[in-house]
Formats: sequence, structure tokens, C-alpha cells
Amino acid sequence: MTDATVSSSAAPQVLAWDGPTRLFKWALVATVVSAWVSNKYGAGNVAWHVWNGYAVLVLVVFRLLWGLVGGSTARFAGFLRAPLATIRYGLDLLRGREAHYLGHNPLGGWMVMVLLGLAAVMGLSGLFNADTDRMIIEGPLSAKLSDAAVSLAHRIHHQAFDLLLIAIVLHLAAVAFHSVVKKERLAPAMVTGRKPARDYADMAAATPGSIGLAIGCLVAAGLIVWGGIWIAR
Ligand code: HEM
Ligand code: HEM
Repeated sequence: MTDATVSSSAAPQVLAWDGPTRLFKWALVATVVSAWVSNKYGAGNVAWHVWNGYAVLVLVVFRLLWGLVGGSTARFAGFLRAPLATIRYGLDLLRGREAHYLGHNPLGGWMVMVLLGLAAVMGLSGLFNADTDRMIIEGPLSAKLSDAAVSLAHRIHHQAFDLLLIAIVLHLAAVAFHSVVKKERLAPAMVTGRKPARDYADMAAATPGSIGLAIGCLVAAGLIVWGGIWIAR
């Protein structure tokens, strides 16, 4: 019996998601929700939206680094598959004969990149954004910009959030579909980190990433975001 397998009276479970990946995932959910709430109800405290925006940027950079050195199911090389293989998986899914994945399945893997990409666009456009009168809330890099450039950042910030909402709805629909129709309880696994042992197409059990490396990635992400803003100011 390997240490990755936990057996109890129920089916044996294996590690699917390591701690840093799960912490990242739910921190991103919390900061995206907080970004919306802070814009809608935080007029009296604009710093909330700005600092929350920095947190989203640090999380995205962290995830990019963790995608290179993190646990086996967190690595991009482990879940990003070629377009043809992804289409084939999609067709198999519709025909009910899809392979099962411990980590992100081929479609889920690309959805992860879309969600990360849109969160990055929100954070980056926010840095150059300001409210229409440039009076109430200003991104740290908007001061030097012309009104036209700031209003372009404003438009991108607005439209990218609409796209992010659409991606989140698709993401939730996919998670619900896998849980209800395919009986694959993906959401609890993203909390506990464990999935039932079975014949997964990608790997039998995940190798967790090192906590030291995760802390290193987080510190590096903070330095990259703040260093970048400081240099660009
Ligand atoms: C309460 C709502 C949500 C639930 C239940 C949920 C559920 C999940 C699940 C089950 C996974 C793993 C998918 C897999 O097995 O392949 C996942 C991954 C992910 N979700 Fe969500 N999600 C939610 C909201 C969001 C939101 C709002 C975002 C915002 C951007 C988001 C971004 C992501 C990302 C980036 C991953 C990949 C995690 C990684 O590999 O690091 N999710 N989510
Ligand atoms: C450093 C980062 C950020 C800064 C400086 C920033 C700044 C701003 C500014 C100046 C506005 C316009 C407010 C107004 O017109 O009254 C705004 C709106 C908004 N921001 Fe951010 N933002 C940042 C990051 C984010 C992130 C990461 C998200 C979400 C993931 C986000 C979500 C929103 C939303 C939903 C709105 C309202 C958009 C609209 O309806 O026009 N922001 N933000």
C-alpha cells in the first residue's frame, strides 16, 4: 500500500491536488469575488479594490511559477494537451466513453488557462485603469497616461470582466456536469485534495509539490508584481 493511498471502509483514495494548488484555487475564487464586491459596494474604501487587485496579480504569477515547479497535477506539462487530443476527449465525453483524469482533463486544462488569462487581464488592465473622472480610484500606473489610454484600460477592464463571468459560468457548469452526470465529484476533491483510486489516464496518484518551493514561488510572485509596478511607475 503506497503512502499516497488512504484506505478506509470506503474506496481507497489517492492524492489528486497538493495543498498549495488548493490554497491557490480558493484564494483566487475569494479575490475574484472580493474584486466584484469591492467595486460594487466598496466606494468608500477604494484601497480594498486596488490591494485585492494586487492579490489577484500575485496569485496568477504564483500559479504560473507553480505550473513549472509544483506538484505533478499542478504542472502545465501534466495537463495541457494538444488541440486534437482535446477535441478527441470532448467527443469521447459526449459519447460517454471518455478517459478519466486524476488532474485536469484536456478540456478542463484549457479552461484553467482561460480563467488564469482573464484574471491576469483584469489585474493588468486595472493597473492602468481609473474611474471616468480620474478622481476616485486610480491604478498605480494610470497617472502618466493620457485620458484616451486610461479609457482604453477602463473598457478592457469592463469587457474582460464580462468574459471572466462567462468563463466562470462555463467552469461551474462543467464541474456540475462531471459531478451529476459523470458521478466524478470534482469540487470536494479540490477541497480535500483526494479522489477515489482508479485507472486514471494521466497518473495513478499525484506527487505533491514541496512547501518550501511553494513559499519561494509566492515570494517571487510578490517581488515580480511589486518590482514590475515600481519599475513601470
Ligand atoms: C464556488 C465556485 C467554484 C467551484 C465549485 C469551483 C470548482 C473547481 C474545481 C472542481 C476545480 C478542479 C477542476 C478539475 O478537476 O479539473 C477547479 C479548478 C479551478 N478553478 Fe474553480 N470553481 C469555482 C469558482 C471558480 C472561480 C470564481 C474561479 C475564478 C477565476 C475559478 C478558477 C479555477 C482555476 C484557475 C482552477 C485550476 C486550479 C489549478 O490547477 O490551480 N474557479 N474549480
Ligand atoms: C491593481 C488592480 C486593479 C485596479 C487598480 C483596479 C481599478 C479599477 C477601477 C479604477 C475601476 C473603475 C471604477 C469606476 O469606474 O468607478 C474598476 C472597476 C472594476 N474592477 Fe478593478 N481594478 C483592479 C483589479 C481588478 C481585478 C483583478 C478584478 C477582477 C478579477 C477587478 C474587477 C473590477 C470590476 C468588476 C469593475 C467594474 C467594471 C465596470 O463595470 O466597469 N478589478 N477597477
